[in-house]
Amino acid sequence: MHSNKLRFGVLGVGRIGKIHIGNLVNRIPDAEVVALSDVAGAELEAVAARFSIARTFTDYRRLLDLPEVDAVVIASPTNLHYQMIVEAAARGKQIFCEKPIDLSLEKVHAANQEVGRRGVRMMVGFNRRFDPNFLKVREIVAEGKVGRPQVLRITSRDPGPPPEAYIRASGGIFLDMTIHDFDMARYLMGSEVAEVYTRAAVMVDAVFEKAGDWDTAVITLTFENGAFGSIDNSRQAVYGYDQRVEVFGSEGMATVANNAPDSHILSDRAGIHTALPLHFFLERYAESYWREMQAFVDAVHQQAPVPVSGEDGFQAAVIALAAAKSARENRPVKVSEISAGVTSECPVS
Ligand SMILES: NC(=O)c1ccc[n+]([C@@H]2O[C@H](COP(=O)([O-])OP(=O)(O)OC[C@H]3O[C@@H](n4cnc5c(N)ncnc54)[C@H](O)[C@@H]3O)[C@@H](O)[C@H]2O)c1
Repeated sequence: MHSNKLRFGVLGVGRIGKIHIGNLVNRIPDAEVVALSDVAGAELEAVAARFSIARTFTDYRRLLDLPEVDAVVIASPTNLHYQMIVEAAARGKQIFCEKPIDLSLEKVHAANQEVGRRGVRMMVGFNRRFDPNFLKVREIVAEGKVGRPQVLRITSRDPGPPPEAYIRASGGIFLDMTIHDFDMARYLMGSEVAEVYTRAAVMVDAVFEKAGDWDTAVITLTFENGAFGSIDNSRQAVYGYDQRVEVFGSEGMATVANNAPDSHILSDRAGIHTALPLHFFLERYAESYWREMQAFVDAVHQQAPVPVSGEDGFQAAVIALAAAKSARENRPVKVSEISAGVTSECPVS
């Protein structure tokens, strides 16, 4: 069966790159990792040794030149995604790219066009779609069990801010963090977002202000089907990663609470105590990272469309840019204001 394995090269062996490597090596039998690339040489060698991967390159182009690499995972900093996508597509590699595709909508569009032109697949890393809890809510809503969806609520708060250098390169809270929530909103409601109204501020750490960013936001969404949504974000929840969702409709409501490492409840004189939520994304979404990569491998093997396309990456980026504009200008922003002039046609997903 060895020859049927999809052979991966991974570009970037940082926080998320290591997760994908671990899943491909240990949990996806019909895939293998044959090469890694990172500019951080010592870390590259350490990761290669840990996962017994023979080939390492500090120049990713040399990895892309390997004919035995069928597919790449792009897990480098966001500002490198576009160039890596274009070059990988030109060499006929199948592409799994971390979110966001790029910070510029024109480049997201151009990347999608290039992927289509070269006839390769590209899946975008909106992993939360593969979380078993959110997947269940999606099914419930799609099956009409809450009736006509009327209000979506998403609470999405990180346990603490990322390092300053990460913040500066991230594209800001909406393109870096809330982009997952925007994708979740489209996915759960089965409708596109028409308008965004955002209030944002710096309440957690002045480092965000220095970087021209915000750390706290409340976003009101109006969907094309007339439903409303609200997303609230913070870069710091002192009790841990807070990831809750609610879809309310004419026939009922579906909710997802936080996941905890265990479900004990201690009752004593002081009160009722239980475990804090799983600390951050690596723990909370471990299952979803595995499932999304398995879905990508399956799509390539079966020559089927990928479940999260470049078009999904484009749409989430449009909403993120609308949210940022709304925060800056303190007014509701129609999504069409942002996407006008940039076509999102993506011939091959
Ligand atoms: N889906 C998710 O839940 C999720 C979570 C975290 C990060 N991300 C995304 O993944 C990407 C990486 O984020 P991270 O947190 O892992 O960052 P990171 O800084 O931990 O890792 C990035 C790695 O890329 C390497 N790199 C830099 N230049 C390179 C080059 N030219 N060639 C090869 N490697 C290079 C860095 O040395 C580093 O090891 C970002 O786009 C981020 O938005 C997604």
